[in-house]
Amino acid sequence: MKDFRKCTVYQIYPKSFYDTNGDGLGDLQGVTRKLDYIKTLGVDYIWLTPFFVSPQKDNGYDVEDYYNIDPRYGTMEDFETLAREADKRGIRLMLDMVFNHTSSRNQWFVKALAGDEKYKNYYIFKKGQAPGVPPTNWESKFGGSAWEYVPEMDEYYLHLFDVSQPDLNWDNEEVRREVAKVVRFWMDKGVKGFRFDVVNLISKGEFKDDDQGDGRRFYTDGPNIHKYLKELNELSFGNDTDIITVGEMSSTSMENCFQYAGADSHELSMVFSFHHLKVDFMGNEKWVLVPFDFKKLKDILFDWQVNMAAHNAWNAVFWCNHDQPRVVSRFGDEGIYWKESAKMLATVIHCLRGTPYIYQGEELGMTNPGFTDISQYRDVESLNHFKILQEKGLNEQCAYDILSVHSRDNSRTPVQWTDEENAGFTTGTPWIQVTKNYKTINARQQTQDPDSIFNYYRSLVALRKKYDVIAYGDIVPVDPHHPQIFAYERNYNGQQLFVVNNFYKKEIDWNCGKDLNEYQVLLSNYPQPEHREQIMHLRPYESVIYFRQK
Ligand code: GLC
Ligand code: CA
Repeated sequence: MKDFRKCTVYQIYPKSFYDTNGDGLGDLQGVTRKLDYIKTLGVDYIWLTPFFVSPQKDNGYDVEDYYNIDPRYGTMEDFETLAREADKRGIRLMLDMVFNHTSSRNQWFVKALAGDEKYKNYYIFKKGQAPGVPPTNWESKFGGSAWEYVPEMDEYYLHLFDVSQPDLNWDNEEVRREVAKVVRFWMDKGVKGFRFDVVNLISKGEFKDDDQGDGRRFYTDGPNIHKYLKELNELSFGNDTDIITVGEMSSTSMENCFQYAGADSHELSMVFSFHHLKVDFMGNEKWVLVPFDFKKLKDILFDWQVNMAAHNAWNAVFWCNHDQPRVVSRFGDEGIYWKESAKMLATVIHCLRGTPYIYQGEELGMTNPGFTDISQYRDVESLNHFKILQEKGLNEQCAYDILSVHSRDNSRTPVQWTDEENAGFTTGTPWIQVTKNYKTINARQQTQDPDSIFNYYRSLVALRKKYDVIAYGDIVPVDPHHPQIFAYERNYNGQQLFVVNNFYKKEIDWNCGKDLNEYQVLLSNYPQPEHREQIMHLRPYESVIYFRQK
């Protein structure tokens, strides 16, 4: 059995990874081509975001056909080659299953719209409350109403995301059997990992107006969610103990995650939760500019760490993915401490209790692109909110400022492979612009430089394999209310890890309360940590991993 606690996962957004045929879009052959690079990093799994047939309104999270590969990404043969070549290198594939909704071009939805009752019942159609008034006041996560009116039916269908992403009706047993069948199809191709997209939204509760919010309390962690996950587990991946799974949990509660990712609950191996990434929001409102709240960030992460451990449940730990801005731009420094801060942020995540995820380019310290014009943006959510913000009365410049911080396109620019044209991503015109700093930030430079961010990530991945305490240790926050330091301890079988991070540029002397002479340094982002007895002198963004064996 694969022990996912010892593993690291590398996320690939194929469209922006590597293009082999010059059409400006990354493809599956591109992933195969870069397997040796990924192997060098030492990771165990590659999570590939959706490459199934799709109109690409939401870059593949709108699936038209779950059984075939979008020709823009390649063919089934390309997929099989990738799987084989990855396997040769000891790397497994994790596929991204989008089952909360389909594309409106999916045959099921096409038939539903054509009036086929069977398929209509695959989705959620409802009468309006009155002419022109949708069934509920719920909002789509991409802006606007979550209901779309179909005049021929005089009914609305639910779409929690884009109008082209109608929600599936999981209360219909046939739907549940269909999705399990899709999972088994990919299992038969040797796939050993699955990520389930926004999976805690699949069980809808009451359809009522929300007078307190946007409706999410009615469908998040809904009434039958645990039943449906256990059933999916039983009908598909649960039959192969080698498979690891992760659920993307939108606005979830920790109590539900104890079950989703509980060691004995027969649901999923682990969960992504996002509360720690809303510390630069105003409540749930993402489209604002506020500085990040460090204390909140730490409180949330520690709260989840400690309580998931107490309930024998497992976290996925991460800063970055294709929906989040680049972490070095967000919580670190794009300037002179770019390298130190990127390494520090990596340390915080990789030494926590959980399975770490690295998002393509994070291991190079890639930054936000700093787009300044709407023509540079591609993401449906960003385009919608650019309009909505101005409708709310913000001027165009303010809308740009917000987008440049929060847009999902911040992480979707092409991977910077070399200092050549288009960062070596494509010989054609990239579907989204390359970030300008590729001449200095690129994989070719960093794979050759022993002191690079890339090689630091490589060390972190290797440490997890070597020291059981990283994979299995408990978690004890150290000086948790400190306004500048992120420190914690891990313990396992007489091994102790002591992880210290200065989250800011400001230097500081800190009494760590330990006799540091008893420890050895496993990794650090400065040549030599400095301390006088228990007082550590921490330089800008300094990060140290101490270890001792009792
Ligand atoms: C998830 C995906 C995101 C997508 C959304 C709808 O949050 O990560 O990219 O837009 O689900 O499928
Ligand atoms: Ca291509």
